[in-house]
Amino acid sequence: MTDQTCRDLRVLVTAGAAGIGRAIAGAFAAAGARVAVCDIDDAALAEFRQELPGHAAFECDVSDEREVDELFGDVSGKLGGLDVLVNNAGVAGPTGPAESLSLKDWRRTLEVNIDSQFLCARRAIPMLRASGGGTIVNLSSAAGKFGFAHRTPYSASKWAVVGFTKSLAIELGPDNIRVNAILPGAVDGPRIRRVIDAKARSKGVPVADMEKLYTRQASLGRMVDADDIARMAVFLAGPGGRNVSGQALSIDGDTQALV
Ligand SMILES: NC(=O)c1ccc[n+]([C@@H]2O[C@H](COP(=O)([O-])OP(=O)(O)OC[C@H]3O[C@@H](n4cnc5c(N)ncnc54)[C@H](O)[C@@H]3O)[C@@H](O)[C@H]2O)c1
Repeated sequence: MTDQTCRDLRVLVTAGAAGIGRAIAGAFAAAGARVAVCDIDDAALAEFRQELPGHAAFECDVSDEREVDELFGDVSGKLGGLDVLVNNAGVAGPTGPAESLSLKDWRRTLEVNIDSQFLCARRAIPMLRASGGGTIVNLSSAAGKFGFAHRTPYSASKWAVVGFTKSLAIELGPDNIRVNAILPGAVDGPRIRRVIDAKARSKGVPVADMEKLYTRQASLGRMVDADDIARMAVFLAGPGGRNVSGQALSIDGDTQALV
């Protein structure tokens, strides 16, 4: 039987044209939702339009206030309202000891990873309220509950996501709007390969050793995949998640620390 737990829900996934966001958008579409994504990657947006023709794809850098305002105008026009916002956009940021990092790179990481969530939530809240309630899912990271050496801007931004999520959940509970964060561990895919390469260089160890450390840091001894994250997002938006709010939900194979 097809999963229709999100039938007719109107869903916006930021950075939804590739990676984890694409998996989330696909899972919502498969569960019967009407999906809009935004992204900065034109080629990935074109591919999304081909693969999911009944859904919408817009170009938008979610760290830019004006572009976010335009996006919400477009989403409102296309979907006629909103039930679910998935704040998925995030960048890895620079890798290196804190004293070697530039303020420009620090700020860019926070702009994309946390300012964007504020900008999108601010526009989504009145729409969710108008729908009689809804769900916000914010992507944090295992780096939002552990310290992460040589990735200070990323970790700071992902801890900020958890504080933002828990505070917003309290503010919006009376409006029947639920707000949760998902904290993925290392998600297998091209991005984590880039991250592992950069970390190996920064720490001066072979890439193969760093890769082993990445899988061993989880009790389950493996990375997670994008579909694991997508299933949790769909669960949170559907009937199973109706009393789940203010939570920081780890999907990380029981990661014990970050190397
Ligand atoms: N991949 C992992 O191992 C992992 C682990 C923990 C948390 N996360 C978090 O999950 C989320 C998705 O990660 P991913 O690995 O799919 O990312 P990714 O690097 O694969 O990028 C996914 C998409 O984000 C888009 N994007 C980048 N900056 C954008 C911006 N300013 N505005 C709009 N779109 C933008 C890219 O064009 C790309 O299509 C992020 O918040 C990330 O921090 C990822």
